[in-house]
Amino acid sequence: MTHLSVLEPKHPAAVIRLEGVSKAYKLPNGETFDAVQNVSLQVRKGDIFGLIGKSGAGKSTLLRLVNLLERPDAGHVFVSDRELTTLAKPELRLARQNIGMIFQQFNLLQNATVFDNVAFALRLHGKRSPGEVLRRVRECLEIVDLLDKIHSYPAQLSGGQKQRVAIARALAPDPEVLLCDEHTSALDSETTRSVLDTLRDVNRRLGVTILIVTHELAVVHALCRHVAVMEHGAVAEQFAVGENAAGTKRVTALGRELARLTVRAEVDHEIERLEAAYA
Ligand SMILES: Nc1ncnc2c1ncn2[C@@H]1O[C@H](COP(=O)(O)OP(=O)(O)O)[C@@H](O)[C@H]1O
Ligand SMILES: [Mg+2]
Repeated sequence: MTHLSVLEPKHPAAVIRLEGVSKAYKLPNGETFDAVQNVSLQVRKGDIFGLIGKSGAGKSTLLRLVNLLERPDAGHVFVSDRELTTLAKPELRLARQNIGMIFQQFNLLQNATVFDNVAFALRLHGKRSPGEVLRRVRECLEIVDLLDKIHSYPAQLSGGQKQRVAIARALAPDPEVLLCDEHTSALDSETTRSVLDTLRDVNRRLGVTILIVTHELAVVHALCRHVAVMEHGAVAEQFAVGENAAGTKRVTALGRELARLTVRAEVDHEIERLEAAYA
């Protein structure tokens, strides 16, 4: 089966742009597996964009293609109008400072304090004085509301706090884009809500564009403005979350489920409004 992806003209506000990207993995038995097939996708500046799909659909691979942790076999990757796929290593390293990333397992340095974990990314790229590093770390910890934990070690923090340290670390170099891979999957629902609140805040206050991979529809429903559903390495459909939820035909099961969630939330909201009016 070939996947024809229609190349849309560049949206004026696109900050992430994938054009016909593909990635195949070589399997131990010598065969190849097409993890991502000819995907074209645009994420607008300031958006919170969800990438959903079943396990194995190719979400993580697609996300790693955005910052070139995986190099595509074909296609072009643009972030902030720079084509990353043409950059040499030193330029790519610089360009990556514009792209923060957070993961499910937090990936914090266990033997380093919260301060050192957040400062890590800044020191890696040099050029800042110790005073500037301290100021920036404090700023970022304030954004995620963890300034009081600056001298703590990861083992002394809850899961949600660890994830917020990871968000602070990703924000430290002042990126335009934040990539999140199943970043709430290790958290309970209460903690998930607080991490989502933090991300919403980051998006609103700092204008950071967020691309989120998740298999949890509730995360998309709570946070995202646009969503793409991935199936078998391709984008099966994409739409605005909550837009005309009742009237539009969704072509994927996940798309339909998400529409039902949205309709249910609208009904709940209406009931609350009526109850308040007649109370
Ligand atoms: N390094 C790799 N080598 C071989 N196969 C891989 C590799 N990474 C991912 N895959 C395969 O590619 C498919 C998509 O993986 P992934 O992007 O992680 O999916 P998702 O994040 O949607 O669960 C899966 O079938 C997975 O087994
Ligand atoms: Mg994954």
